[in-house]
Amino acid sequence: MRIASIVGARPQFVKLAPIHRELCKRHEHLIVHTGQHYDYEMSQVFFEELAIPDPDHDLGIGSGTHGEQTGRMLMAIEKVLIEESPDAVLVYGDTNSTLAAALAAAKLHVPVAHVEAGLRSFNRRMPEEVNRVLTDHVSNLLFCPSEVARANLEAEGVTAGVHVVGDAMVQGLLELMPRLDPGLLGGFGVGSGEYVLATVHRQENADDRERMAAIVQAMTGCGETVLLPLHPRTRKNLSAWGMLHALEDADNVALLPPLSFMAFTTLERFAKAILTDSGGVQKEAYTYLVPCVTMRDETEWVETLDEGWNVLVGADRKRIIEALASPPVGSTDGRTYGGLKVCERMVRELELL
Ligand code: UD1
Repeated sequence: MRIASIVGARPQFVKLAPIHRELCKRHEHLIVHTGQHYDYEMSQVFFEELAIPDPDHDLGIGSGTHGEQTGRMLMAIEKVLIEESPDAVLVYGDTNSTLAAALAAAKLHVPVAHVEAGLRSFNRRMPEEVNRVLTDHVSNLLFCPSEVARANLEAEGVTAGVHVVGDAMVQGLLELMPRLDPGLLGGFGVGSGEYVLATVHRQENADDRERMAAIVQAMTGCGETVLLPLHPRTRKNLSAWGMLHALEDADNVALLPPLSFMAFTTLERFAKAILTDSGGVQKEAYTYLVPCVTMRDETEWVETLDEGWNVLVGADRKRIIEALASPPVGSTDGRTYGGLKVCERMVRELELL
């Protein structure tokens, strides 16, 4: 078969890697990069470290408003799909690249397979929630990471083509885990279990001045060593609001540029706790059995809450500090999202299309 994967943003490259390895065994796999993420450390370094070949098509769309970015992707992806006529298109997660790719393919009657289908935060103000719901409803194959995801789809009347296969990103992490070297921590001046790894980039936080003020106060006032690789969107806003210097001046915070995948995931693996508003990072923390404190009011990854490895604290200074002082430690083995056969199951379903 000739399968096209359409990706564009950091977390999608991480999911693409194990799927690419599996697909390549028996099929032709085209990679299309929308260019949503374009900085070296947001994109190319992931391809290099995860041994993903260069994209067959790089659409170079870049940033923009949601409508502009998604619309330009839609036009460019349609052209590629007409030119390449793949047997199926794989889309990943919930970014604007996901929605544009799913829509372009569905309109051309090319079967769409959605990796990470059925996740819901039930908050339609999140751009990702809109992307997920719409993508699921035009997909022919829906690869769910868990039973909860399957039930979410069923509640919306989506039952055809739904398969609980587990999570591709988790498979990739499990394969990588033995290779993660704590020796890398020295370069950041920390030891294993001695620091909190923090990320914040989600629109509901990064674009909201009040929420970011509380988050900055929590990070600088928590008494922990905080490593903070900053997403360009967050850096730009903090700088415009005059808040960056509070982080730069704080003795306990190390402000870092966006990190390569290997550096970041090694820091995750050996952290005392992770403070984040990212979906993927919550799941990564759970897979490594590292306590996670999530600066959101709801999460799609409800299993991480149910099993006690994750806690929601919103953008509330006091709750963030309290949660970091006694991070949530669950009692499960972090294996809910499937093991090492996730991608094999997906490819088998694709072959039945
Ligand atoms: C996107 C996804 C989000 C995902 C995240 C992973 C959507 C709606 N959001 O958010 O779900 O968790 O990727 O990182 O698709 N920028 C750069 N360099 C880059 C890319 C972006 O400087 O390489 C800056 C630009 O100023 C841009 C801003 O970051 O305007 C936001 O980028 P965008 O791709 O729109 O969304 P993300 O916040 O990265």
